[in-house]
Amino acid sequence: MVRRSIVAGCGSYLPERIVTNDELAKKIDTSHDWIVQRTGIHSRHIAADGQKTSDLALAASQDALQDAGIGAEDIDMIVLATATPDETFPSTATTVQAALGMTRGAAFDVQAVCSGFVYATNVADNFIRLGQADNVLVIGAETFSRILDWNDRTTCVLFGDGAGAVVLQGQDGDGSSTDRGILSNCLHSDGQHHDLLYVDGGPSSTQSVGFLRMEGPEVFKHAVRNLASVCSEALDAAGLAADDINWLVPHQANQRIISTTARKLKMSEDKIVMTVDHHANTSAASIPLALTEAVRDGRVTAGDVVVLEAMGGGFTWGASVIRW
Ligand code: UT7
Repeated sequence: MVRRSIVAGCGSYLPERIVTNDELAKKIDTSHDWIVQRTGIHSRHIAADGQKTSDLALAASQDALQDAGIGAEDIDMIVLATATPDETFPSTATTVQAALGMTRGAAFDVQAVCSGFVYATNVADNFIRLGQADNVLVIGAETFSRILDWNDRTTCVLFGDGAGAVVLQGQDGDGSSTDRGILSNCLHSDGQHHDLLYVDGGPSSTQSVGFLRMEGPEVFKHAVRNLASVCSEALDAAGLAADDINWLVPHQANQRIISTTARKLKMSEDKIVMTVDHHANTSAASIPLALTEAVRDGRVTAGDVVVLEAMGGGFTWGASVIRW
């Protein structure tokens, strides 16, 4: 017998306010056509004044707990992926823990920027497989609108706010690739590429929050190079092949990156869950947001092989293979 982490429920939350490309084009030198052609993005959700990452995370968590049919008292651990925490400390995870009324267990944040949800999923899976937790709430939540330079057209049109969450639950399998749950995880990072994607502030450097800075075309090249290879690596580790994938749920940074990755895996586009058009890049939130959408509309069903993949600042990248 092998202990696995199954997805017992998922949920999401998007702020009410939708900002279209045309609205941005009124303020900066850009156009709807440029943004759609280069990224696939049509609109994004932006958090209201005063709405914090923990507020988004709490709403997504409540949705996921309801979907799983359990209460906060059943949760042993919260692992929250974010690059836009409410405060430098304590972790946003502990703020969500308190808001859920959860008084036991442990809660902490994971920082891997856009790969954060894959990292957090891997961390949670390890705790479950070691028997240290039975039910783990894994959250990806971001308010990237707070770290954007709204005068920099090369970055501000790309991102949005949102949150998604899953409940991972321990369950015994037979150790084969037909088991339900997480079958493999692969994580990578390469700190040499700091200058290609970073925030130019922080408590120990500038004592300020800073703004996101990115060399987009360079990041693009690394993303298309790394994403297909990490998916293949995770599929190998799970004893599966690209042909076995029912749904690719990628980090939603750019439609062209997603399509190129699928082409490299020789997958047809109709097996990709694509939300970048209406969510834009929500960093660590993009995968659980897309996953929840595909589960709720009936695309992802029991027995499906679902592959999560992401790449982000650090650089960090990773993939997880899950049998639904
Ligand atoms: O989630 C973390 C990982 N992040 C990513 O994966 C992002 C990866 N990068 C990308 O998605 C793309 O590189 C971008 C969408 C950021 C940019 O697309 P691109 O096709 O690489 O365009 P580019 O940066 O090469 O810019 C082409 C032109 C430039 O003008 P010139 O120099 O050719 O005259 C830019 O100044 O487009 C110009 N440009 C814009 N024009 C209108 C850049 N941003 C804009 C804009 N509106 N918003």
